[in-house]
Amino acid sequence: MAQMRLDKFLADMGIASRKELKQIIKSGRVCVNGAAVTQPEFKLEAESCTVTLDGRPLSYTRFHYYMMDKPTGILSVTEDKKQDTVLSLVTPEMRRMGLFPVGRLDKDTSGLLLLTDDGDFAHRVISPKSGVQKLYYARVDGRLDEKDIAAFDGGIVLKDGTQCLPAKLEIVGENECFVTVMEGKYHQVRRMLASRGAPVLELRRLSIGALRLDDSLGPGGFRELDQTEIQLVYNAT
Ligand code: URA
Repeated sequence: MAQMRLDKFLADMGIASRKELKQIIKSGRVCVNGAAVTQPEFKLEAESCTVTLDGRPLSYTRFHYYMMDKPTGILSVTEDKKQDTVLSLVTPEMRRMGLFPVGRLDKDTSGLLLLTDDGDFAHRVISPKSGVQKLYYARVDGRLDEKDIAAFDGGIVLKDGTQCLPAKLEIVGENECFVTVMEGKYHQVRRMLASRGAPVLELRRLSIGALRLDDSLGPGGFRELDQTEIQLVYNAT
């Protein structure tokens, strides 16, 4: 089994900054298999060792996966000089993990956003080759009908001539619909609906593959995905 440094073990879990970690380890607060270890470079087997910090057991996870109910008005990037980003809403531990959003939701779009530090996972979810279905709820200014459903089914051509893959439009109210797409072009759902004379007033992502947004989170709320949920997303790729 591969060995890793104690400071890396703790850093991967976002326990503290690298500098703080050195101090924490040197002060004897970390035990490996019951014995205090004071060297940051100490090598251990992450999966089989018992590590405690101030007596509290830490179980190692290399990668982290969260869902967030992204509120409107927030950017889905890791940093911005002027505006709040989705990382402004999470804990300092999570910021230290190096989380980033899996794809983008527009500033004015709300709903399901995944955050992870696993680049391979993110790539698989975003890649158009994977064909992961994303479901959106939209409220629009305009009436949609059977012709629009057929146009989505055949692949919308956007106003600038861009051809989209076939998508599903479901009309659920006078000005409301669900849209399922398998790609993530810039402002795609807004542009698809605008091309049918129904500009979007409200857009919310409800699911990615079979993973649904946890409605109990509320705007800006987030929580870790469990193993079954991570698998649901993987299975869709
Ligand atoms: N399509 C859009 O137009 N906006 C989003 O945020 C996501 C999909």
